[in-house]
Amino acid sequence: MGITFEKKRKIFHLFTKDFSYYIHVNKYNYLIHLYSGKYLSDISKERVSERYIDRYAFLNDDNLETQDEDYYFSMMGSMFEVAPFGKGDKRNAPYILEGDNNIPLTNFLFYSYKIIKGKIDKKDYPLPYIKFKNSDIETLIITLKDEKRDVYLNLYYELSSKYHTLVRYASIINKSKEDIKVFKMSSFELDLPSSNYKLLTLKGTWSNETDLEYINLNHSLTKISENHNGRNFTYNPSIALLDKDTTFDNGEIYGFSNLYSGDFSYEIKVDEIDQTRIIGGYNDETFFYLLKENETLYSFETVIIYSSKGINDMSHKFHNLIRERLLPKTKELQNNYILINSWEAFYFDFDTKRLLELIDEAKKEEINLVVIDDGWFKNRNDDTSSLGDWEVDTSKIDLDKVINYAKSLNIDIGLWIEPEMISYNSSLFKEHSDFALIPPSYHNVTLFRHQLLLDLTRSEVVDYIFDKLSKIFDKYDIKYVKWDFNRFLSEGYSSYLLKERVKETPFRMMLGTYSLLNKFVSRYPNILLETCSAGGGRFDLGMLFYSPQIWGSDETDIALRSSIQFSKNIFYPLRSIGAHVSNRKLGSLQDKACLAFFGTYGYELDITKISEEDKNKIKEFNSYFKSFHNVVNDGDYYALYNPYESNYVSWNVVSKDKKTCLVYFMLYRKEQTKARFLKLKGLKKDKYYFNSLTNDIYKGDFYMNVGLNLSAPLESFTSMLFVIKEVDEVRATLYRKTKQVDGGKRDKLL
Ligand code: DGJ
Repeated sequence: MGITFEKKRKIFHLFTKDFSYYIHVNKYNYLIHLYSGKYLSDISKERVSERYIDRYAFLNDDNLETQDEDYYFSMMGSMFEVAPFGKGDKRNAPYILEGDNNIPLTNFLFYSYKIIKGKIDKKDYPLPYIKFKNSDIETLIITLKDEKRDVYLNLYYELSSKYHTLVRYASIINKSKEDIKVFKMSSFELDLPSSNYKLLTLKGTWSNETDLEYINLNHSLTKISENHNGRNFTYNPSIALLDKDTTFDNGEIYGFSNLYSGDFSYEIKVDEIDQTRIIGGYNDETFFYLLKENETLYSFETVIIYSSKGINDMSHKFHNLIRERLLPKTKELQNNYILINSWEAFYFDFDTKRLLELIDEAKKEEINLVVIDDGWFKNRNDDTSSLGDWEVDTSKIDLDKVINYAKSLNIDIGLWIEPEMISYNSSLFKEHSDFALIPPSYHNVTLFRHQLLLDLTRSEVVDYIFDKLSKIFDKYDIKYVKWDFNRFLSEGYSSYLLKERVKETPFRMMLGTYSLLNKFVSRYPNILLETCSAGGGRFDLGMLFYSPQIWGSDETDIALRSSIQFSKNIFYPLRSIGAHVSNRKLGSLQDKACLAFFGTYGYELDITKISEEDKNKIKEFNSYFKSFHNVVNDGDYYALYNPYESNYVSWNVVSKDKKTCLVYFMLYRKEQTKARFLKLKGLKKDKYYFNSLTNDIYKGDFYMNVGLNLSAPLESFTSMLFVIKEVDEVRATLYRKTKQVDGGKRDKLL
């Protein structure tokens, strides 16, 4: 792999063994995108650039009409790396800025470049980033200069052959004396010479947060975006652009995922000659930045993954990168715990006695982390009050007693918090109403769940709330925190920003959130953090930088939960998806456990009130967790049945050494007998594997080509979880013989 620059033809080539990306600096110093896709050893810039449409013509410095001789460059149809704004390219542009003359013409031209080993240090810029090691990557930095102003644009391309990723972001540096108003700031632009694409997106709403949706593109501008600043229900910030006939196992696909939790947009434009441009960055609807002299503004990072082998291959690449280079160290604590969360067990209705009973029962069922969700702090008996008043409600619980009792049973305690918020009805609001985010002299501010956002654009507010929380976490031995975020940004203009900067509020709020998270994880590096947003509403790589897991959804019925998880699995590693067994109507405890197993796994119901039979089941699942959950955490994920296209949902996860495979299958609508074979993926074809479904041993190619025979009649919502485990040939033969004698004992092999 490498990054090269061929001086004579002025061509950059970024390549791995499977991927090439070519950029050309043309004679007018525009950066032209020549190619991206499967590895290509060389390129003809002329052949790929010819368009046979308008030739480039302009008035030169001497006011003379100049026309380009050839068709290699056209403003209308060229594929740019950075399209200009306000010039002859009338497609969507990635950067729009304006200086003192109020003219937003933006025209960045090639200035210089650098190729380095490793990653540039962003000098404590408060945005999440991929933690590459030097050996993982090479970085190309191309510097462009605005045609008229002393303003520079750096484009960063971090190429990794280890992870098969191209991480892109940009920075704008103002070296002029003017104040530069930045209206649009992107992390990347990618132009492709085809329109044969569709989009894969995760749209959603509360309780169905990630809902796979394919979008057909047309010639109008398609915008996939969020403007809730931190609740990405409408669209998740991970999307893919794929060939119309790409499947889970074949075909070309580009996946994109932002390391940012605030407002973003992807703009996809099919142009008049059927080429496709995709631009990703801050959502210009809510973004603004005033860049003073010598200031630098960064975009967030976007991870781009290309695959010619379909959606599953792209998923592997995202999962590997996220697990190894994004999740914080606390991911190592994940497998130590089986948790139970009090929310669906008690909601707000609990006290010391109920918690101690829950702890006792947890002990019996081998659950070792009890999380006290919402309702433990002053006067918080419903959702109408108290956010910001982070003091234990001693009239309700004796937290010391709860923690000490739990400790004596080897159980740890976790707590719920919602630090970015303030309740209207709270002591904090009474004392510091100015801490709430309310625009200057503005009335009728929208309340949501009776609460407002804290004005985190102010460092004193961040410090205050952090100090308040620290008093709790310094005092009590808390091992896990659920960090919730239940409302979105509205009337998002701070009273404390200067008039000229007030439109920076949404961006600065996000920076404030990251700074609060930073303080928290630095002071409490051993607390396992799970972020959450009214369910799974802030599920993105920005949050995963701080918390190795995010609550997947408040929806725990297996019908919707299965498709929510299926959709998330496409981009996010399974270990990052908070998933619990609840008491919801649909599905048995076992059905729910099968599904929760493919997330973080835990419980969310009153286990003091369930049958002995269910209690025993919980113990059985928990022993499964101890034996096999590491495969879910670190293995390769393969989608088998897409629930949006069939009556089944199914996947398997194979350990990296391919010795163990876990399979999930669920049927939605009852079916009678029909030929139904579940073909697995990712096994070694010539090795023997035992399967816990039929207690049989077959070779890997049998499981993958014939499949497991599930042809019996199946009731609605039948769920299955089974293990496929490699056995050596001798044991396989022996087992087959024994099986004839005693029917085979499953526990001999598992
Ligand atoms: C929303 C979360 O998704 C729930 O799990 C629970 O923590 C509530 N908030 C508490 O208010």
